[in-house]
Amino acid sequence: MLSARRLMAAQIALVTAATLVDRPGGGSDAAPCLHSGPCPTASLATALAGLDVNERRGDPADLDAVAAYRWEEGVYVTLAAYPLVPRDRVGFRIQLTAFDSDHDVDRLNSTPTRLSGRFPLRLKGWRAMTTHNDDVDWDRWPVADYLRENYREVHPSDAAVIAHHSAFYRRFRPGAIARSVEFGAGPNLYPLILASAVSRGIDAVEAGAGNVAYLQDQICHRLDASWLPFHALCRRLNPDVPATLAGALAHVNVVHADVRTLPAGSYQLASMHFVAEGATEDFAEFADFCRTFVRTVEPGGHLVAAFMENMPTYRIGPASRWPGCPVSPATVTDVFTPVTRDLDVTRIDADPTLPDYGDSGMVLLTGVAEAV
Ligand SMILES: C[S@@+](CC[C@H](N)C(=O)[O-])C[C@H]1O[C@@H](n2cnc3c(N)ncnc32)[C@H](O)[C@@H]1O
Repeated sequence: MLSARRLMAAQIALVTAATLVDRPGGGSDAAPCLHSGPCPTASLATALAGLDVNERRGDPADLDAVAAYRWEEGVYVTLAAYPLVPRDRVGFRIQLTAFDSDHDVDRLNSTPTRLSGRFPLRLKGWRAMTTHNDDVDWDRWPVADYLRENYREVHPSDAAVIAHHSAFYRRFRPGAIARSVEFGAGPNLYPLILASAVSRGIDAVEAGAGNVAYLQDQICHRLDASWLPFHALCRRLNPDVPATLAGALAHVNVVHADVRTLPAGSYQLASMHFVAEGATEDFAEFADFCRTFVRTVEPGGHLVAAFMENMPTYRIGPASRWPGCPVSPATVTDVFTPVTRDLDVTRIDADPTLPDYGDSGMVLLTGVAEAV
C-alpha cells in the first residue's frame, strides 16, 4: 500500500513531468492539472522510482539546506525545486519590496557570496558581478572618513580586540620577534602599538597610497592625539609596550605593497585586522587572502587576526562603497584549520557605538602556522 503522502508526491511529480513534456526547453503552455483522476499504477511506480533517484542523487536536499541557510540569515526566498522545474532550472527567486533599505539590498547582494562558500552554486554571470580585490582602486580609500567613523576614540569593540590581542602578545618576552607584519595596515595604529611589545621590526604593509601617506606622516612627523588613549590601553594591558606612542611606532616600517606579493616565510609573526573579508566580495578570494596571510610567516610562526563578522559590502563616508565578504567563526575556522595548529577562534558582539556596516560583531583569531 502507498502512504497518502507518497501517493500525493507521486501524483504531483507526474503532473509536473507531464507539464514539462508539453514544451521541452521552455515552460509549459498547459496548466498543471492538480485535480486529475487516479493515475495508472505503472505511472505511479515510475514516478516513485524517480523520487527515489532524487533522494539518492540529492539536488532537492541541497536546495532545502540553501533555503534553510538563507532563512537563518534573515533572507526569505522562493524555491523552485526539481521536479517542479527542470533540473537545470533549479534555483530560488529573490524579491525586493519598497520597505527594503540600501543596507538590506547590500546584505541581500552579499548572500550569494556567503552561499557560495557552503554550496556549489551555478550563478550565471555572478563572477562578473562580484567585486574582487583587483577591481578596486585602493588609492581612493577615504582615510579621513574611515578614521572619523572608527578610530577617533577607543570604542568598546577596540577595547575588546586590544584585550584579546594583549593576552596573545603577553605570551612572548619583549623583543622576542625579530620581524612581524601587519597585513593591510590601513590607517589603524593600534595593531602596530600592540605588536611593538614583542617585535623589533614591524612591516605595516598597505596597498592604498592615502593610507601609506597617513602612516608615514604619523610615524615621521606628527601623531594624532586621538591615538594616545589607544596607546595607554595597550600599555596598561601589556607593560612591554614602549612607554610612549612615538617609541612604540619607532618599530614600524611602512611598506607600500600588495600583501599578496610578500615572499613566503619572511616573518615570525603576522597580524591582520579587517582585511581579508574587507577587501573582496568573493569567499574564495577571502580564503586565498587568509592562506597568503598564513604563508607569509615561517612554519611555526604566530598569527593574530580580527575579522568583521557577517559584514557585506559596506559604505564609508557619504559616498564610497567597498567590497565585503560575510564570514563567521565557523567559516574562519574552516579556512584556517587545514593550515594552522593551536587555532583559537572567538567572537564579540556588534558594537552599537560604531557605524552600522551590516556586521554582527567581530571574529578574533590566534594560531600557529603550519607549512602551507
Ligand atoms: C577594511 S580596511 C582595514 C584597515 C585596517 N587594517 C584596520 O584595522 O582598520 C582594508 C584595508 O586593506 C587594504 N588592502 C586591500 N587590499 C590589499 C592588498 N591586496 N594588499 C595590501 N593592502 C590591501 C586596503 O587599502 C585597506 O586599508
